[in-house]
This record gives sequence, C-alpha cells and structure tokens, in this order.
Amino acid sequence: MRKKIIAGNWKMNTTATEGKVFIEKLLQKKLSEKVDIVVCVPFTHLCSVGKMLKGSSMKLGAQNMYFDENGAYTGEISPLMLLDLGVEYVILGHSERRSLFQEDDELINRKLQSALAHGLKPILCVGENLEERETGKVQKVLSYQLRKGFDNLSRQEASQVVIAYEPIWAIGTGKTASDEEAEETIFFIRKTMGEMYDSEFSENIRIQYGGSVKPSNIKGLMNMKNIDGALVGGASLNVEDFEQLVNYEL
Ligand code: PGA
Repeated sequence: MRKKIIAGNWKMNTTATEGKVFIEKLLQKKLSEKVDIVVCVPFTHLCSVGKMLKGSSMKLGAQNMYFDENGAYTGEISPLMLLDLGVEYVILGHSERRSLFQEDDELINRKLQSALAHGLKPILCVGENLEERETGKVQKVLSYQLRKGFDNLSRQEASQVVIAYEPIWAIGTGKTASDEEAEETIFFIRKTMGEMYDSEFSENIRIQYGGSVKPSNIKGLMNMKNIDGALVGGASLNVEDFEQLVNYEL
C-alpha cells in the first residue's frame, strides 16, 4: 500500500522571516497523518524551518542541489549541506530548472545518484510541454526522461525516489490535466518503471501529480488509482489552502 505524499514547492517565494511565520501557522493546524507532508522551502529557510519542524510530522525538503560534496562551485549547495540541516527530500529536475537553467537529463541523473548515495530522497520531476502533448510525443518524452534519470541506479536506490509527473503546460497556468489524463499518463510512467525494474518495484514506487493542484481539484486527482500524491506550487503558499490539500480526505 503506497502512502500518499503531498509536497509544497515554495519556489523562489517568501523571505526567511515570512517563511517562519507561515510554518508557525501551519504547525498550529491539525494535519492528516495518513499522508506524508513535505515542505520544500528556499535554501535560505532550511536552517530555521528545519528547527521548527523537529518533532512534527512534516518533513523538510530542498528544491535543488549540486552533485558534488564540496569545492569550487560558486553559488551551489551540496548534499552534505542539506543533510546537516535535516533535509530529507530534494526536488530534482523540476521543469523550471530544465528550461530556465539548462539542466539536462545527464546532470539531473548525476544529482539523483549523489542524493541517493547520501541518503536523501529525490523527488524527480518529469513532464512534457504543450507542443509535445499536441504532437503525440508524451510517452516518448517521459520514457526518455525516466530512463536517463534512473540511469545507473540500483533497484534499492531507485526505490527511494518519488516521481512527480508535472505536465509543463499545467504548471502555474491554472490549467490542470483532467483526473483521467493525469491517471492515464501516470499509469504509463508506472508501466515504464515496471519495464525498467520489475512489477513489484512499479507497484511500490510513489508517483505524484503536479500542475495547478488546488483544494478544489485535489480530491478527484487523489482518488485515481495510480496517483500517489501531489507536488504543489502556488497553492502551497497559502496556509489554509495547504491545510486543505493535506487534509483532502478529512
Ligand atoms: P503549481 O506548480 O502548483 O503552481 O502549478 C507546481 C510545480 O511547479 O511544482
């Protein structure tokens, strides 16, 4: 039985001071224990938010990392730095990193290998753009991203990964994939994982949907058989919305 995982991706929003106020408010809410809750805050918040989350059921996540442990990589953050602050999850290969910062599948794979070697749990984002969807290339694109992303990972390592299917045309646009569209594509991802590993593996790996998830559409998406949670951008920046998202079952 796969436990649902709902992760907030704050992106480059809020100051560390604002972030503290947000987490303080969130900690006062009664949040469902049936789902894993992760907050992926900016690097500058990890230290303070990490301390605040100690003893709570919420988990700390980062939004990116570099693959090396240390060295002359001005502006980068290493897995050791994340671990030291209590980070458990790290988003890798987000479409904004791919398109705005030219991250390719090879680099993302190196980051994945490094995160896993250090005991961090990657949330690997995959997804097609509008043109790829309209020209019938969804399966080809996803299959490529998955095979490249999981390259050189042992079965044991790969089982720690959470996959986030985020169609790029649905991110921050207000357009969500319909429940059925998301389910169909996530089923394809699960099937591909079965081909890459085995059926037991594909039954157990968690696959989230992401792209304009909000309180009004989460229930339908989470009721789909193959969807194991959500990666949420915009709606994770509002305390009440995030509360409703993680408590969608209550
Ligand atoms: P959104 O972002 O919920 O604002 O569409 C999702 C994401 O980019 O992870």
